[in-house]
Amino acid sequence: MRLQLCTWLDVEAYLKRSSGIIMPIGSTEQHGPTGFIGTDAICPELIAAAMAEKLDVMIAPTINVGMAQHHLGFPGSIALRPTTLIAVICDHVKSLARHGFDRFFFINGHGGNTPSMHAAFSEIYAEKSFGGGGDGPSVRCELHNWWKMPSVKKITDEEFKDAEGFHATVSEVALTYHGYPEDGDRVKLDTLDPTLAPVGPIFDADDFRARFPDGRIGSDPTLATPELGKRFLEAVTVEMIEDYNKFLAAD
Ligand code: NI
Repeated sequence: MRLQLCTWLDVEAYLKRSSGIIMPIGSTEQHGPTGFIGTDAICPELIAAAMAEKLDVMIAPTINVGMAQHHLGFPGSIALRPTTLIAVICDHVKSLARHGFDRFFFINGHGGNTPSMHAAFSEIYAEKSFGGGGDGPSVRCELHNWWKMPSVKKITDEEFKDAEGFHATVSEVALTYHGYPEDGDRVKLDTLDPTLAPVGPIFDADDFRARFPDGRIGSDPTLATPELGKRFLEAVTVEMIEDYNKFLAAD
């Protein structure tokens, strides 16, 4: 059930059944020569949609722009500063908490978001601790980085090991090709030079572009196929549903 396709009456009725909501969060940033700029937002969105096919669960609008300052050397990338992202997350959660949602299950598609997400969760808890939360329910936020889940790692280890890389990875590119096969056909390439992209640290945008000229870090996303993407999606959806149910059942 997508929040954006609900009426307020639908949401009011849902809140009588559940106070849980899935919050897809990603980024709008370059993903190498063969990956969509929306990759990090598209992946959590596809996983959330697959979960909603099997569960009566509300899906919040995807937070599409994240902490991606290091990608700004490439056209099309959009970034929020860490402090902006923290404020965006807090305002999403506080808006929904006002209506009675109190279990926020974040599916994240971008590693650069995680420090700001943890800081946002601390801000939300701090507000309650300092007496600003009123008499409302105690909010819980949980972060799930889909690409780090054991079901995903199992497939990457079996299929391509090191070629998975760290940015513009095979798994995330495959998942988006499964979701958008015609666009995948349009952007995919048979080979990249070098086959495996360089690895290294991340600082500012100009430094990133110099270290990683085509945008990839350590990956060979020419291995990505829609079929692989389907495997990733099915495996991670099963695991994510288990985690969501545990989250709702926890104190
Ligand atoms: Ni990514």
